Amino acid sequence: MKVRAVYPGSFDPITNGHIYIAERAAAVFDEVIVSVLVNERKVSAFSVEERCAMAREALSHVKNITVDSFNGLLVDYVRQKEAGVIIRGLRAMSDFEYEFQMALMNRQLAPEIETFFIVTDPKYSYVSSSSVREIFHFGGTVRDVVPDNVFERLRERYHDR
Ligand code: PNS
Repeated sequence: MKVRAVYPGSFDPITNGHIYIAERAAAVFDEVIVSVLVNERKVSAFSVEERCAMAREALSHVKNITVDSFNGLLVDYVRQKEAGVIIRGLRAMSDFEYEFQMALMNRQLAPEIETFFIVTDPKYSYVSSSSVREIFHFGGTVRDVVPDNVFERLRERYHDR
């Protein structure tokens, strides 16, 4: 039986840390759907179309990964995709409390869906989309923590740096 996993997130934008987690998940599960949250309540730097396009380009080398978007409850989406697994990345203990709560909440809502945590590479333990946006915005370099296509889009967004 093939196991399909959903790796959900805001991906605003996708970073090398996310790519690492997606690649590790793709090595374990038959199919991985990287799914970008459409969140009308949260202001995002990039539109959902841009976030999907960046993720798609950055993950095109992994054949069993597809990129999609979702809104509403994650567990409803996971069921609709007939996936049995949710993937989340862990960078540090500080991530754990939030992730633990979310995993338990999702289990309460959908007991048949399993959350799997994948631990990041230590070299990405400090990388987050929000810090990438902020560092770039204030003129710092993020070259090593985002893929080239994301770097180019950040340059376009925040003018040529
Ligand atoms: O990259 P993020 O922002 O940490 O991802 C958070 C995400 C998208 C996984 C989470 O906010 C989510 O699943 N949102 C959808 C709404 C939902 O199902 N909420 C209940 C989970 S407790």
